[in-house]
Amino acid sequence: MLRGIFRTKNLDDILASSQEAGHTLKRTLGPINITLLGIGAIIGAGIFATVGTAAAGDAARPGAGPSLMLSFVITAVVCAFTALCYAEMAAMVPISGSAYTYSYATMGELVAWIIGWDLMLEYAIGNVAVAISWANYFRSFMQDAFGINIPDWLATDFRTARKIPGLLDHAPHIFGYPIVFNLLAFAIVALITVVLVWGIKESAGFNAGMVMVKILVLIFFIGALLYFVSPSKMAENWHPFQPAGWGGTLAGAAVVFFAYIGFDAVSTVAEETKNPARDLPIGIIASLLICTVFYVVVAAVFTGAMPYGDLVKRLATEQAEPLTMALNHVAPQARWASAVVAFGSVVAHTAVLLVFQLGQPRIFFSMARDGLLPPVFAKVHPKFKTPHVTTIMTGVIVGGFAAVMSIDEMVDLTNIGTLFAFVLVCVGIIILRYKEPNRHRPFRVPFGAWPLPLMGAVSCVFLMYYLPPTSWWRFVAWLLLGLAVYLSYSYSRSEIGKQIGRSRITAPWLMLMALGSFLLAIGLLTIPHDASLKDLLSQLSGGFAGARQTFIGAILIVVGVIAAAAGTLIGLVQKK
Ligand code: ALA
Repeated sequence: MLRGIFRTKNLDDILASSQEAGHTLKRTLGPINITLLGIGAIIGAGIFATVGTAAAGDAARPGAGPSLMLSFVITAVVCAFTALCYAEMAAMVPISGSAYTYSYATMGELVAWIIGWDLMLEYAIGNVAVAISWANYFRSFMQDAFGINIPDWLATDFRTARKIPGLLDHAPHIFGYPIVFNLLAFAIVALITVVLVWGIKESAGFNAGMVMVKILVLIFFIGALLYFVSPSKMAENWHPFQPAGWGGTLAGAAVVFFAYIGFDAVSTVAEETKNPARDLPIGIIASLLICTVFYVVVAAVFTGAMPYGDLVKRLATEQAEPLTMALNHVAPQARWASAVVAFGSVVAHTAVLLVFQLGQPRIFFSMARDGLLPPVFAKVHPKFKTPHVTTIMTGVIVGGFAAVMSIDEMVDLTNIGTLFAFVLVCVGIIILRYKEPNRHRPFRVPFGAWPLPLMGAVSCVFLMYYLPPTSWWRFVAWLLLGLAVYLSYSYSRSEIGKQIGRSRITAPWLMLMALGSFLLAIGLLTIPHDASLKDLLSQLSGGFAGARQTFIGAILIVVGVIAAAAGTLIGLVQKK
């Protein structure tokens, strides 16, 4: 009934269209540039912010404590499997477009849509988290360097504010309600959006400069802590090594996955690489390796700087930026040192923001070109020659969310979405080895089609398992929302659909399926996420009054399932 949803785009066609006149890019990048590009996209909020939650835990998960170093190693291994898969894909299909394009060529339209939709979690939601973390460090920098105190209520979200004693009381009130929103995070996204619409020439030199700052500031942080904390004190703070057992270490690994996101973005410059077959794998693996070394050492000195108990207490009640907090803890007199770290951190975050804020509109752009999103998404500004519509849209979404969301929730959602995209890329490698065994593969994942890609897919699912339930509810709801858009719009508008003669008008039964999917998604977002299935069922049996939210969510889910099933049935009957 749904025709051609697994129809793939021909790899040769994709390669040919990238070679068309005017579409070829200059091949200027070598392995060192690629590695630097990778590091530029990787080091950001993950190492500067998520290490706090990963080490100390929160209401939704246990903390890794000093075993955070191990968490970083585990996640690096998971990423390495996927990195090899990305390297094979990128060398074989050396065109810009990342996982979305690869999956269109390997697993067909529906999976490509899912990945494209899912990548919004990596790029846009990921950047929400980076913008929030940017705001925290910027505030810290202004305070430490110039003594300027930006009010808390303009640099945080409401739910985080509730955890910090006194913050809501000090915020201005309108009609008795405290006003709290993250103006700083919104402002940086707005600024970057303007720069990107204007158009920046991404220069390898500029990127190399940013990467230097990132690396120097991490070295400075490591050096400062080693200087201020004696080895015996550090060793003391490393006990107990796993305060919450393996559960804490693995939950930590799932959180710090955020710190590695970005190595995959390197594959998008395949068309500009001198020798993609050699340079891409080198660049992807080398940037991952270098970052892992830094991350493990930073985790070691960070957890060695203060006792686990203090760490948990401070992070639960303060809006603290973990690295500057650790520095202030061991050397309260050296404000300049934490100003240096805060400054480097602001630079690092800005670089990551630029990469992802640049990437998201281009994914929208590719999807619109394939007919999966409205043509307006593929518009290019007549003067600046940038995809301004999607760039502004991305800016509004990311900035809006950054103003009101809490960083941990955004990190979890980004991680689950990105891990899922990685699973699909790993599976894609296996599929393509069978479907197109003779295609030229300048780089191959070693040991055959199965072992490493399979381990990559399984280990990504394993990390997903350790993310809090809320992120799972939201993730499934997000995919269902995507399905609703696909069924109601993209299916009948896609270019491939056009070629195989699909009707250009969405049939009523498809609309019904889309409506069902939409209601199901809203229902999943509505029901309380912190209750177990057993709790939810007992709430439902207790009557409407005490569990209104659960009831509304459950009704939406039931109606959604009925609508989707009815649509499917009508579709099946009509096709007979
Ligand atoms: N890895 C990137 C960061 O940590 C997303 O900011």
